[in-house]
Amino acid sequence: MNKIRAAITGVAGAVPDYILTNDELSRMVDTSDEWIMTRIGIKERRIIRESGVGSSEIGAKAVRELLAKTGTKPEEIDLLVCATVTPDMQFPANGNVISDKIGIRNAFSFDINAGCSGFLYALSIAARYVELGKCKKAVVVGAEKMSSIVDYQDRTTCPIFGDGAGAVLLEPTTEEVGIFDEILQSDGVGRVHLHQKAGGSVKPASHETVDAREHYIYQEGQAVFKWAVSKMADVAVEVMQRNNITPENLAWLVPHQANMRIIEAVAKRMGISPEQVMINIQKYGNTTAATLPLCLWEWEPRLKKGDNIILATFGAGFTWGAMYLKWAYDGK
Ligand code: UT7
Repeated sequence: MNKIRAAITGVAGAVPDYILTNDELSRMVDTSDEWIMTRIGIKERRIIRESGVGSSEIGAKAVRELLAKTGTKPEEIDLLVCATVTPDMQFPANGNVISDKIGIRNAFSFDINAGCSGFLYALSIAARYVELGKCKKAVVVGAEKMSSIVDYQDRTTCPIFGDGAGAVLLEPTTEEVGIFDEILQSDGVGRVHLHQKAGGSVKPASHETVDAREHYIYQEGQAVFKWAVSKMADVAVEVMQRNNITPENLAWLVPHQANMRIIEAVAKRMGISPEQVMINIQKYGNTTAATLPLCLWEWEPRLKKGDNIILATFGAGFTWGAMYLKWAYDGK
């Protein structure tokens, strides 16, 4: 009998309507469109402006679209994994909230927090359930409202992040498509360089933590940059080599969208051309766990069955990883 693999059989995305431009940011902090474009490569990002709307709302929107376009009923889903660092609440999990909003009642659902690598980690976990025959239809959704933890007085972080969500459907297949290989890694020493100081159990919210602006993203950009380039490239190249993927037979690299310069450095180490790389950082910024599915969503019409694709990511933790898959269907 042929091996059962998990294959992505549909993808959908959702971004908020409001566009926060570099020009608007330049009126909030001492920065410029020129600096942001040169150092990061972001022109604009989407932001949830309405009060009382959390990341589950755009996550649910992406999942709703996913089920509609794949002709899937909510009751057919047996697993939903949500990757996020900005859940609606500390608990319960965003996965539970999204499942409730969609009417997914025959599934178990939970969250994965692996920073910007969350989607890849979640995809890997869901794939195992599918490969084992425990799940027939699994949804993996990355959903973030990064604007809820961005300090719009801090020019070193506020240009980087945006809000968004993307979701994929995973199903078993015995064809030569789907997820073939992956490398996932983490190193907790990285936590000093990228974290949120307060709001967890070490430093619960207090007047002092709010006054000290400790409920926002803290990032030492240069340290994160160096780790991101080297670790993301290492695993992407390793996954390439051990699956006999060459620059000639690779269709697409789907990299985490954190910084245009990081993406270019990784592509260079892989020896591939810019035309082989999915890049939408200029319009969405870094949407953390949503960057990979948002890329797949946008590129879906151009994807062909059998395309060799490598996903690569790096994020808070530090966490990083790369996955090799063969696309399972022709995009419409
Ligand atoms: O997704 C999770 C993983 N995160 C990442 O991968 C992010 C990795 N890091 C980066 O992308 C980059 O390090 C940043 C985009 C965060 C910063 O770029 P950089 O080229 O590393 O800049 P820098 O931190 O070395 O700062 C250079 C200068 C500094 O001024 P001085 O000290 O040289 O006078 C900063 O104060 O640029 C200044 N600066 C800015 N200037 C204008 C920092 N932010 C801004 C800004 N506008 N927004």
